[in-house]
Amino acid sequence: MAGMAGERVGLVLDAWVKARAPVNIALIKYWGKAPSSLPEDANLPAVPSLSLSLAGLFTETWARFAPDAERDTIRLGGRPLLPEEMRRAVALLDRIRAVTEVASPFEIITVNHVPTAAGLASSASGMAALAAAAGRCAGLDPSVPDDLGLLSEIARIGSGSASRSVYGGWVAWEGRRAHPVAPRDHLPIAVVVAVVGRGRKAVGSRDAMNHTARTSPYYAGWVQQAHEGFADALAALAARDHARLFAAMERSTWRMHASAMAADPPVFYWQPASVAVLREVAAMRADGILCGATLDAGPHVKVFCDPRDSEAVSRRLTTVPGVEDIIETGPGSGLEMQVGDEPSVGGNDDSQESA
Ligand code: PMV
Repeated sequence: MAGMAGERVGLVLDAWVKARAPVNIALIKYWGKAPSSLPEDANLPAVPSLSLSLAGLFTETWARFAPDAERDTIRLGGRPLLPEEMRRAVALLDRIRAVTEVASPFEIITVNHVPTAAGLASSASGMAALAAAAGRCAGLDPSVPDDLGLLSEIARIGSGSASRSVYGGWVAWEGRRAHPVAPRDHLPIAVVVAVVGRGRKAVGSRDAMNHTARTSPYYAGWVQQAHEGFADALAALAARDHARLFAAMERSTWRMHASAMAADPPVFYWQPASVAVLREVAAMRADGILCGATLDAGPHVKVFCDPRDSEAVSRRLTTVPGVEDIIETGPGSGLEMQVGDEPSVGGNDDSQESA
């Protein structure tokens, strides 16, 4: 992927570029946007966040210039994008055209390798892979740190959390772009996802966080405590202190959801089975298994633990009534790029969920 030091890559004019980007899970949550009016300032966060990029759950996207086309075309798992998905993707592509001074439309083919049953958002991996593939066509080089930072910034325009999915391992996001804070092998971690209430469509995170900011009396408190929680989690990560990191993650989770539940009308993502899983997590902790839980804009519970305990955690979560599926994963790597790779078919048709 890397060119020689100081050498710039050029435009890719007549070949496909493939990018693969991982899904990420936030331990310290992004929930709320800073006020902005310019398109390039879309999704600036009101609070800092910290995430882990995951192994084995990713989006693959192929991009090439389509100079004779009238507009961008994007196919996701064999279907055209929905209008709102398309609007976000085109805003991202417009930003690539603006910063690289190219005018051409793109042809994009994208496939999510995130099982629909995983209940994990593929918007972050999807927008990160889109930024990387189209950006590389236009001469941005992910192997150059500053270009990679710019891709993080551009991915953010499609979906805030996508700013973190251009990096592997542990990633922090403050302001315009995300940055890596520790490699994937920094500390041993397993993530066990308890899938509950599959198929029920949750309120999208973007609308929900805006609604929370507008109507929840707890939103100001959420924003006010966020920096302290972020600093605490970073310190725990640096010290490789699992217990402190999990405690910071849970605090951020409860506070994010409390602010959303106090919105008017409430945004309530939890299902009875979500609560049952949380009770089982508490029971496992009481039994001496070090673990912690988090939920995002959906009912599924992601349990972090030591890899040595992941089998026991999976076994116990399987027995919780209402748990429909268990997915085991762990820390993953960042972008992978290939120039000249022809699109292959496959993947899910319906896995582009924003929850
Ligand atoms: O980037 P969005 O709009 O999908 O928002 C993500 C919001 C959460 O998943 C709830 C938290 C986070 O930081 O990923």
